[in-house]
Amino acid sequence: MSFNLRNRSLLDLQDFSPREVRFLLDLAAELKRAKYAGTEQPRLKGRNIALIFEKTSTRTRCAFEVAVHDQGGHVTCIDAAGSQLGRKESLKDTARVLGRLYDGIEYRGFGQQAVEELARHAHVPVWNGLTDESHPTQVLADLLTMEEFGERPLHELSFCYLGDARFNMGCSLLVGGTLMGMDVRIAAPHPLQPPAGLVARMRELARSTGARIAIETDPLLAVAGADFVHTDVWVSMGEPEDAWRGRIEQLLPYQVTAGLMRATGKPRARFMHCLPAFHDLETEIGRQVHERYGLKEIEVTDEVFESEASIVFAQAENRMHTIKAVLVATLG
Ligand code: CP
Ligand code: NVA
Repeated sequence: MSFNLRNRSLLDLQDFSPREVRFLLDLAAELKRAKYAGTEQPRLKGRNIALIFEKTSTRTRCAFEVAVHDQGGHVTCIDAAGSQLGRKESLKDTARVLGRLYDGIEYRGFGQQAVEELARHAHVPVWNGLTDESHPTQVLADLLTMEEFGERPLHELSFCYLGDARFNMGCSLLVGGTLMGMDVRIAAPHPLQPPAGLVARMRELARSTGARIAIETDPLLAVAGADFVHTDVWVSMGEPEDAWRGRIEQLLPYQVTAGLMRATGKPRARFMHCLPAFHDLETEIGRQVHERYGLKEIEVTDEVFESEASIVFAQAENRMHTIKAVLVATLG
């Protein structure tokens, strides 16, 4: 199956059809095989890509950089501290400048309206590298990883996302799972569940994709039968530090523990996390939370994170292969 996605932006997975997502996943698998086999063909020769990061990043930035480099193109990284963006120049003006110089722009920032504004004014493809509402390139990697480890088509697989489900990861996994016809479970207290409008749209979409969607407050009920257990940080980038106290109170029952993994009833259930994760005291924030609230591990226990069930680093690698597929499909 082949699709012409040339010149398309990726602002949210909702903008793509199930067949287009399928095409991107197949292309990512093909590019991954080619890289491993040493037969990759550079399809971005002479292309210049701008990467804008208004929030910090390790995986997304490095995945874009390596993907572009592998494909023979060039990148420039721009952040608020090292450019005029924000303090002296609006996003709209920045878009009109960069759109004249670059063939495509990755953007990581705060509200979804910012990446939409950028795409409106840049006149080149724009790829969302994370906003508060959406993390589409992460979920493409998550879908590829579930397909690889699930050893069955995605529509025969189930996953459960636990934690802050009203933010980017919860929302984008709901969209990605629905598009691919999966058994999607979300476990979160009511205030941290995905927005009602999005849930309604996904239930409507599920009628055509065959997805099953369950939004639960009970973590044990939600994980029963799940092939994959996903979580994310409890306080996301851009949220105030004082959000931690309330979030810990709300989400402690949703911490991914060995007991919760057993509650899937699937001995081969896998643990996934977009990363970075707070599972020990090796980070500054992890230590601060420990000093203030006494928790040594937060959204996932170190036992689960370091267990055989954990596929988080294979998932992180797949960021690069899937981002490469997006770049090749939209620019190559
Ligand atoms: N998962 C993810 O987006 O990681 P970074 O914040 O390191 O890019
Ligand atoms: N929800 C997290 C995802 C990080 C990749 C955040 O926005 O900080």
